[in-house]
Amino acid sequence: RHCFSRSTDGYLYCEGLRVEDVMEAAERSPFYLYSKAQITRNFEAYREALEGLRSIVGYAIKANNNLKILEHLRGLGCGAVLVSGNELRLALHAGFDPSRCIFNGNGKLLEDLVLAAEKGVFVNVDSEFDLENIVTAARVVGKQVPILLRINPDVDPQVHPYVATGNKTSKFGIRNEKLQWFLDAIKSYPNEIKLVGAHCHLGSTITKVDIFRDAAVLMVNYIDQIRAQGFELEYLNIGGGLGIDYHHTGTVLPTPMDLINTVRELVLSRDLTLIIEPGRSLIANTCCLVNRVTGVKTNGTKNFIVIDGSMAELIRPSLYGAYQHIELVSPPPPDAEVSTFDVVGPVCESADFLGKDRELPTPAKGAGLVVHDAGAYCMSMASTYNLKMRPPEYWVDNGSLVKIRHGETFEDLLKFFDGL
Ligand code: LLP
Repeated sequence: RHCFSRSTDGYLYCEGLRVEDVMEAAERSPFYLYSKAQITRNFEAYREALEGLRSIVGYAIKANNNLKILEHLRGLGCGAVLVSGNELRLALHAGFDPSRCIFNGNGKLLEDLVLAAEKGVFVNVDSEFDLENIVTAARVVGKQVPILLRINPDVDPQVHPYVATGNKTSKFGIRNEKLQWFLDAIKSYPNEIKLVGAHCHLGSTITKVDIFRDAAVLMVNYIDQIRAQGFELEYLNIGGGLGIDYHHTGTVLPTPMDLINTVRELVLSRDLTLIIEPGRSLIANTCCLVNRVTGVKTNGTKNFIVIDGSMAELIRPSLYGAYQHIELVSPPPPDAEVSTFDVVGPVCESADFLGKDRELPTPAKGAGLVVHDAGAYCMSMASTYNLKMRPPEYWVDNGSLVKIRHGETFEDLLKFFDGL
């Protein structure tokens, strides 16, 4: 069962609510619309998959950092994966247990590492200088920091180069040639740091679980080597990266169960606690960006549907050429002509498109149009380009529409200049 579905009456629903009715109730358009129940179901899929293993599900909050969503996931038992000081602060504010939080990143700042050390979150070591800063942070707060080594296993995730991270020349992690250097360095700081695990993250939008399996095989070999030197490693962190069905073509993609099952035996064989860092697969399919059609136009052979949403609210198509499924909210009039359209926003550049070459019925002015699977890396990557203010967010909670974030306003913008 999926939260967004078209009913026999021809209308698109989010849980029990007609999206067209939600558009009437919303403060403005475009807006993000989530299903709280779908977030719960997505988390439950991981929980079921992980049964019989010791595990931490660290939600990668970069995917979506809405505070209400964070609080909900925390309430379900999620930990959090963080890549900046402010993500760490927000996770703490949302009540995440620091001992279920993991601080990642290739450019962690010393001041943020100090906060992490003080709170006792796991820190993934990314480089020589990062290790140095972690040691310094530990000394500043007088606490031993639990660390994992982020090893770059050089497994090709077969995804867009911008979201591949585990290959040989990526800016993330350490190469295995340097492993011994790191182990020796770690041995010289017994009071400051404690090596508790190994981490890798291959990339994002991965749709073949063999890739995770290949990486996990390499990782447990590293873990064996590290343990042989007297380190008591407890954690294998295989990162995030599981893809979702953006195309809505019915292709069956691997589920969290498939992912966990490919590594289960390896994890059990070494008596490890498994950490996973899902972002997209927890949140992407729980949300649509809901827009209104401003008008339809034709230039030469190209037809355009111009909507009020744009690359400012949702940049993935422009940035990665990503496909996100697009539909009209309400049934079209019976005489509406179906054509091939580019769906574009009002932003002043040709990179501003939400979809290319989509077969759609010609919509009326003001019609509702949704961009699906907008829960991950959409609102969190939104900008105010062209002074398009960031949109409000709503979710359907137990059949009711609830606002979970105010839309940014022109007045908010002017506040940055107050008192200058
Ligand atoms: N762990 C680490 C270390 C990561 O770098 C990421 C994502 C994740 C976990 C979560 O990956 P997920 O399960 O969400 O695939 N903006 C891009 C995606 C960038 C992903 C960055 N790292 C997009 O819109 O597709």
